[in-house]
Amino acid sequence: MAIREILIHPDERLRVVAAPVSFPLSDEVKQVIRDMADSMYDAPGVGLAAPQIGVPLQIAVTDTLWRSDEVRHDPDNPGGSRDLKVWINPEFLWKSDEMATWEEGCLSVPETYADVTRPAAVRLRWFDMDGASHEHDFSDFLAVALQHEFDHLLGKLFIDYLSPLKRNMITKKMKKLYKS
Ligand code: NI
Repeated sequence: MAIREILIHPDERLRVVAAPVSFPLSDEVKQVIRDMADSMYDAPGVGLAAPQIGVPLQIAVTDTLWRSDEVRHDPDNPGGSRDLKVWINPEFLWKSDEMATWEEGCLSVPETYADVTRPAAVRLRWFDMDGASHEHDFSDFLAVALQHEFDHLLGKLFIDYLSPLKRNMITKKMKKLYKS
């Protein structure tokens, strides 16, 4: 188990556009994915994209069950993985005209939450660790979580959707709290 350091905004490495992953996965990339899952659960968070640990590849992991305190604190399986999903080279094929607003946060922008409006449903194509492609529609929380995670692969953060004034305040706060 290896916990990687999660980069904090305004780290420039969060702004790179990630490259597609080629198959079969190298041992190095498999290790990155394992480390991403460990780091996400350790944080704890519901999603983590590879650029957040300084790896500019199109990979994200999620566990949206993890957001439930009930699950996270289940004494029968403390710290256990519940619904780990690995998303490689994801691409949205469709986004709904209908929009939805959810409060978002991000491990790279700690202790900061804000409402973001995004398409309420999406159709996604992605690859699994074996290189098989999948296509599926998502709505509700998962649609939002996936859009948030895959924004990271484009060098984009949820605070980019906020007003410049609000974003600047958040950036100042991060610089003050996480000065390296
Ligand atoms: Ni994030």
